[in-house]
Amino acid sequence: MKLDVLLTPGELMPGDVAERTVVVIDVLRATSTIVEALAAGARALYPVADLEEALKLANTLGRDEVLLCGERRALPIEGFDLGNSPGDFTADRVGGKLIVMSTTNGTSALVSASVGARVIVGSWLNLTAVVDDLERTGAEPVFFCSGRQGKFGIEDAVCAGAMAAALMERAGPDADWELNDGAMAALAMALRYPDPDELFRETSAGKQIVEAGLREDLAFCALTDRHDVVPVFHDRQITLAAPAPAAAAES
Ligand code: MLT
Repeated sequence: MKLDVLLTPGELMPGDVAERTVVVIDVLRATSTIVEALAAGARALYPVADLEEALKLANTLGRDEVLLCGERRALPIEGFDLGNSPGDFTADRVGGKLIVMSTTNGTSALVSASVGARVIVGSWLNLTAVVDDLERTGAEPVFFCSGRQGKFGIEDAVCAGAMAAALMERAGPDADWELNDGAMAALAMALRYPDPDELFRETSAGKQIVEAGLREDLAFCALTDRHDVVPVFHDRQITLAAPAPAAAAES
């Protein structure tokens, strides 16, 4: 079974992921915010790379229906309805809404990952839900770390490593995994940094968020397994995957 971790966005080769499930990870903060927004009842979220496109899409979808959100240099964008702080995406604010989001790294990573056979959104907030999904679908996953402006961001790699470790543990000691070097590195990093909140405070992305006066976002993004949801990116929009058959029968 193949399991790859792409540690920087430049490693994504469309041909390599065309038949794979891609897990896009930008824990500080885009993918954490996406998980929170959809769990809070947003109808769908549209990730777009640039601001002009975000405004155009909001107008096409109907400005009254849409919340524009995102950040540049960690700060909310002038004229947008929300920034990129997951705690602001409450049911009161986003329930039933469409969201158009543009962030520095995460939304571009999502757009480039759309060449994958299936694209899902991962963070600490839905870590176990992603692992359940990968196990249930028998996927050979590619964990795609968004990084920072093309460079490596350790928090995404550690999250990928934590998901990979959980998936491999479930498969048991006899499973035959074929790991790329990125996966080997991510697994080692996840062992070294077991506490995401502590890790975030040391990273350059975390420091930028603290400097922007948004320190509480770090603790929020570290809330492991806050939601049992898997956002799926398909046809330009991200919506929640249907619950697994067993979970659906229980509810
Ligand atoms: C991004 O997409 O670059 C981020 O999520 C950055 C941030 O939220 O500060």
